[in-house]
Amino acid sequence: MDSFLKNKNSGWWDGSVGYEIYMRSFADSNGDGVGDLPGVIQKLDYLSWLGVDLVWLTPFYPSPMADFGYDVSDYCGVDPLFGTLEDFDELMEEAHRRELRVIIDLVPNHSSSQHPWFLSSKSSLDNEFRGYYHWRDPGPDGGPPNNWVSHFGGSAWTLDELTGQYFLHLFLPEQPDLNWNNPKVIQEFDEILKFWLGLNVDGFRIDVAQGLVKNMLMPDNPYRFPIRSDMSPRQVFAAFDHRYDLDQTGNLEIFRRWRKLVEPNDALLLGEVYLRDNDPNRVSRYVGSGDALHRAFYFAPMHVPWLPQPMWDTFRDALDAAPVDLSWALSSHDDPRAPTRLGGGNEGKQRALAYSVLLFFLPGLPFLYQGDELGLSSVELDPEDLADPVATRNTVETDGRDGARSPIPWANAPEMGFTTGTPWIPMGGRSYEDTAEYQQETDGSWLMSYKELLKLRKEHLDPNAPLRWVTARDSGVIAFRRGGTISALNVSDCDSEIVLPEGEWELVFQVGEVKKISELLIFGVNSAVVLLLTS
Ligand code: GLC
Repeated sequence: MDSFLKNKNSGWWDGSVGYEIYMRSFADSNGDGVGDLPGVIQKLDYLSWLGVDLVWLTPFYPSPMADFGYDVSDYCGVDPLFGTLEDFDELMEEAHRRELRVIIDLVPNHSSSQHPWFLSSKSSLDNEFRGYYHWRDPGPDGGPPNNWVSHFGGSAWTLDELTGQYFLHLFLPEQPDLNWNNPKVIQEFDEILKFWLGLNVDGFRIDVAQGLVKNMLMPDNPYRFPIRSDMSPRQVFAAFDHRYDLDQTGNLEIFRRWRKLVEPNDALLLGEVYLRDNDPNRVSRYVGSGDALHRAFYFAPMHVPWLPQPMWDTFRDALDAAPVDLSWALSSHDDPRAPTRLGGGNEGKQRALAYSVLLFFLPGLPFLYQGDELGLSSVELDPEDLADPVATRNTVETDGRDGARSPIPWANAPEMGFTTGTPWIPMGGRSYEDTAEYQQETDGSWLMSYKELLKLRKEHLDPNAPLRWVTARDSGVIAFRRGGTISALNVSDCDSEIVLPEGEWELVFQVGEVKKISELLIFGVNSAVVLLLTS
C-alpha cells in the first residue's frame, strides 16, 4: 500500500511544498525598486525556516518588460534589472546548500517582439526566421486572418506594415507566438533547456503549456456565447471555444521530448495548464501517460465558490482524473490573492489558512505564492499606479493583476524593508502586522500557523499514502484520510459535525472553532483541522 501512489511521475518533488517568487516584488537588494536575484539569496534562510522545499522563480531573463518578464528577448541570460548569471549561479549554490530546490519559468509559447528571432523574422517575407512565428496574409476583408483573440484584449493578430502580413500573439503584440510546428523552434528550445540544466536548475515551470502548438489551418474558433462591448478581456476570451488555438494534441509531443531531455538531470516539468473550463480530464492528459509533464497546475480551486457542492465536485473530479499528479495553488501572480477572493478581511484570511489544510494534504504538489504565508490580501491601487498591461491597455474595467503583485512587506522600515528606493508599484498600505518581521515574533500569527502546517505535513504525511474520503458529497465538511492523517475543512455556512473513523485521533492543528468530543468533531464556520492517528 505504501507504494500505491508511486507512479511514473514520482520524484524528489513527491513530498515537497513549493513557493512562487514573483521576482519583481520579492526582495530588492540594490534600491532600484525592483526585486532581484541577490534579494532572493538574502531571503533563502527565511524560506528554509518557513519549511518550503522548492522555489519557483518567475522570469528573470533579458526582457523589454512589456509583460514584466514574460516577454523574453534572450532565453539564456539574466536581465541587469535582476542581476547577472553569476548571481544566478550563487543563488543555485546557496539554495542547494540549504536543500532548497529551484525551478525556473520557461516561456515557450511566445518570445518578446525584441528577440533577435522576431526582429529577423519581421524583416522580410523570405527571412530564414520567418517560419519561427505565425505570419499570415490578411483575411478576405483585409482584416485579421481569423477570429482568434488575445488573452489581454483585442484581436490576436497585428498587422506588420513592412511585409503586409499579420503575426499571431495570444498575449500582447510585444509577445509574438512561436511556431511549434517548426522543427527549428523545437531544436532552439532543446538547447535552452540544456543550458539551464547545465546550471543545475531543478526543473521548469512551463508558461502557457496549453498553448504551444496551434492548428496550422487556423480556422475560426467557434463562439460559446455572444460578445458584448462591456466584457473584460478574460470574458471575451472565455466567449470562444478555443478549439484551434489551445490544448492541441501536439503539445504532448513537445513535453514527451522534454521529458527525455530532463530525466538524466532528475529535473521537474511542471506545466501551467490554464484551461478556462478547468476540465480536469483535459488537464490530466498532460500528466496521465507518465511520459510527459510530471505535474500540472490545476486552477479550479482558485476559482470555485466557497460552497460544499461545487467544492466537492472540484476536488473529486480532479482527483479522479489525476489522482497524484496535480499541483495546487492558493494564490498566484495572475489572480486575486486567496484572502481577497475568499471574502476579504479576517474572514478571508482565516478561510485561506483553512483551505490550505485541505490543499496541502492532498496528493500532488502544493504551492504558496509569496506572501500567502503572511495572510496577505490583494491591495487596491490608484488608477495612475497601475502597471499591468491587462489593466493599462483596456478601457473596460478588467481583472488587472497588480493587486496581487505589490511587494512583500518584510519589516518595520521605509517601504517595509522591500527596497531602499521607490517600489515599482506601491506597497499598497500594508501594516506592521502584515510584515514577516512582526509575524515571526508573534505566536499565533498567520506566518507561524503556515509554518506549523508545513512542519506537520513534512513530519506526518506519507507522500505515497492514497486518499480516502472520510465524508461524502452531502456533507458540508470535506474530509479525507491519507495514512495516519485526516484533514477536514468546513465549507458550509453553519456548524457541521463529522464522526471520525475508528482509532485514536489526536487534533494537532486547528483553524477557527472546532470541538472534539471523543469520535465526534463539531466545526464552526470556516474552520479546519488536521488529526493524527495515535493508535
Ligand atoms: C502566464 C503567466 C502570466 C503571463 C502569461 C503570458 O499566464 O503566468 O503572468 O502574463 O503567461 O506569458
